[in-house]
Amino acid sequence: MSGTSAAAPSGDHLEIKDSRTGKSYNVPITDDTIRTADLKQIKVNAEDFGMMGYDPAFMNTASCRSAITFIDGDKGILRYRGYPIDQLAAKADFLEIAWLLRHGELPTQAEYDQWVKDVTYHTYVHENIKHFMEGFRYDAHPMSMLTAGVAALSSFYPTAKNIHDEKERDIAFVRLIAKMPTIAAFAYRHVKGMPYVYPDNSLPYAENFLSMIARMSEPKYEAHPVYAKAINILFILHADHEQNCSTNAVRAVGSSHVDPYSAVAAGVAALYGPLHGGANEAVLRMLEHIGHVKNIPAFIAEVKSGKGEKLMGFGHRVYKSYDPRAKIVKGLCDDVLKISGMSHDMEIALELERIALSDDYFVSRKLYPNVDFYTGLIYRAMHFPTDYFTVLFAIARTAGWLSQWEEMLLDKEQKIARPRQIYTGYAERPYSTKLDYSHKITK
Ligand code: CMC
Repeated sequence: MSGTSAAAPSGDHLEIKDSRTGKSYNVPITDDTIRTADLKQIKVNAEDFGMMGYDPAFMNTASCRSAITFIDGDKGILRYRGYPIDQLAAKADFLEIAWLLRHGELPTQAEYDQWVKDVTYHTYVHENIKHFMEGFRYDAHPMSMLTAGVAALSSFYPTAKNIHDEKERDIAFVRLIAKMPTIAAFAYRHVKGMPYVYPDNSLPYAENFLSMIARMSEPKYEAHPVYAKAINILFILHADHEQNCSTNAVRAVGSSHVDPYSAVAAGVAALYGPLHGGANEAVLRMLEHIGHVKNIPAFIAEVKSGKGEKLMGFGHRVYKSYDPRAKIVKGLCDDVLKISGMSHDMEIALELERIALSDDYFVSRKLYPNVDFYTGLIYRAMHFPTDYFTVLFAIARTAGWLSQWEEMLLDKEQKIARPRQIYTGYAERPYSTKLDYSHKITK
């Protein structure tokens, strides 16, 4: 990078001419990207702070270098550590994927066996976490309970603050992957008014979770294999999605060097929002609102007018073609509905998709079904309450959040996340007040 009189650098660079000063600058290009910090040299005078990039909502700003997940939104490609999502969903096990995301390679048999053993061993939570969960109101939203439950774990493992100690990161990774389903299941049982069920560590991950959800008086709960398989696949599909809103939240909060439980709690909170993980819940509410296939044209017209709600489960910041996860989920939905029976919601969803995909409004804006369009239907077919759907997403995404958090910590270029702003408020003005504070004075 250099100012006006410097010779052009030998590598790829961007030539910038500032019309305010007539000066020219050369900014290096690496990976089709310039460093916005390199713009800071562009000044009108010495007092000038320097040029910034303005990018609300990070529409065109890379905040990190990451080797975890690759997405090509135009082509509908999603890969974890280079492996295509459809291949992983067809064959892999969620815990294997959690390992892959963190370590970058598939586990050896010995590594996998030890990892499964460790996670299984740590599924129980401290009894006080159980009592803590019992303190919520009967109608608490399970995502609020999960956010608080995960944040509370931080107080049970104070040494997790030693984030630069690899062993502490290892055990935090194990504990969070192991305990998320337990806390999530406690939240489920709480809302239902049912006794909490402890983990059954003779069961695999997905089956154990379903046992904590559904087991009553039977000594052992055996989940329907189609349901257990569906949970395993959905957990894989949701395990990571590069720099989405919640992952960005985990990285940003983690960049202050807080412990991983607190950072993951921030991720759960971000996921709760209806534009992110809450979308599958919103899809089901939308289908309920539509009520019948005959009402779809009127609903679509309302969406297009911009006066009504958006078509939930459609559109994506990154995918401008069919979300590759949505394809897999649609197939999975068929499998689950064969067990539970075709649902009224599914009939509306299929017709809604058909109409939207042939409507120029959606086609021209490249709005296709995203992963959440069909996941809610599967969860409903499996009898999960609507407000519980995002909890299932959060269990899976914990693997991605932690992998991204650790990658951020080990990245020498990363610092505490602290964006700049363009100040639009008042210039300096003198303070004076006419308020009467006398009522506040303790006599
Ligand atoms: N229904 C109707 N119109 C839409 C929709 C939709 N679902 N999504 C985008 N648009 C329109 C939008 O109004 C805008 O139109 P115009 O150009 O006339 O102003 C255009 O398409 C571009 O949309 P945008 O808001 O600039 O796109 P974005 O990248 O900021 O938003 C999104 C992405 C996912 C927030 C948005 O598509 C949306 O709100 N979808 C519904 C919620 C949803 O399904 N979210 C789940 C995302 S996938 C799960 C996850 O990864 O969390």
